[in-house]
Amino acid sequence: MKWWLSSRHVLQSTALIILTSGIIVSCVHDPFLDPNALNDGKPSIPGCTPSGQICFESSVLPIFISACARPGCHDAASHTDGYNLSSYATIVRKGIKPGNASESKLYKVLFESGEDRMPPDGSLTAAQKDSIAAWINQGAKNITNCACSCDANEFTYALSIEPLLNKACVGCHKPGSLNGNVNLADYSHVKNHVNDGSLLGSIKHSSGFVPMPQGTKLSDCEITKFENWINAGALNN
Ligand code: HEC
Repeated sequence: MKWWLSSRHVLQSTALIILTSGIIVSCVHDPFLDPNALNDGKPSIPGCTPSGQICFESSVLPIFISACARPGCHDAASHTDGYNLSSYATIVRKGIKPGNASESKLYKVLFESGEDRMPPDGSLTAAQKDSIAAWINQGAKNITNCACSCDANEFTYALSIEPLLNKACVGCHKPGSLNGNVNLADYSHVKNHVNDGSLLGSIKHSSGFVPMPQGTKLSDCEITKFENWINAGALNN
């Protein structure tokens, strides 16, 4: 085979491998948990939508708690500017116009600039903003106990653990917002809290640990994912 023929062959095979692995990854990807799901510029509803409506409890509340209801910001104790964004009842009290995201202050501030921008570090992904918009446009209802699709046997770090941490924890546990001096923004720091038992202890609300995430609890299936991942060695997989 001529050298240019063989190198073209290598290129083609590489492209094929990349293409196929992309397809496999997108198939096993849990779209219900991925706050970074690509939306191709179209409005997306990356949250759990068992009845066609986005589930407030599992897909929207965790975003408000992790990104807004941080200590000193919009938690029950501080309620800065009168916004307590730690529960359904208090979230819908101010700044939400059910059925109309674009006229809802709590949605509009996500796109502000300068000191009006929320969260101040601009940390919400496009998909998280879309989840909030979808929830408001669908009437800002308190949809709970949703039969969200969750497969406890899928527990890799990349597809399950990291997206769960991003959804429910990282807003309060990252450089610049290190509550309890706990950093969950990257694998090696997460691993430290696996090793000292505090990650599992806090999400299982075990005695001796501060219950996490603050003010709510992950679903049983989500907690089982963490347990399965830890029992399998808490790999960076
Ligand atoms: C709204 C903010 C907030 C969110 C969201 C949050 N935490 Fe925390 N976390 C805190 C604060 C504040 C502390 C310190 C509590 C204390 O020391 O009383 C803390 C402490 C911890 C600790 C140390 C607990 C201990 O007993 O040693 C761990 C581990 C932890 N969080 C993990 C998590 C995990 C995992 C999640 C997501 C499932 C999460 N946190 C979500 C605010 C938050």
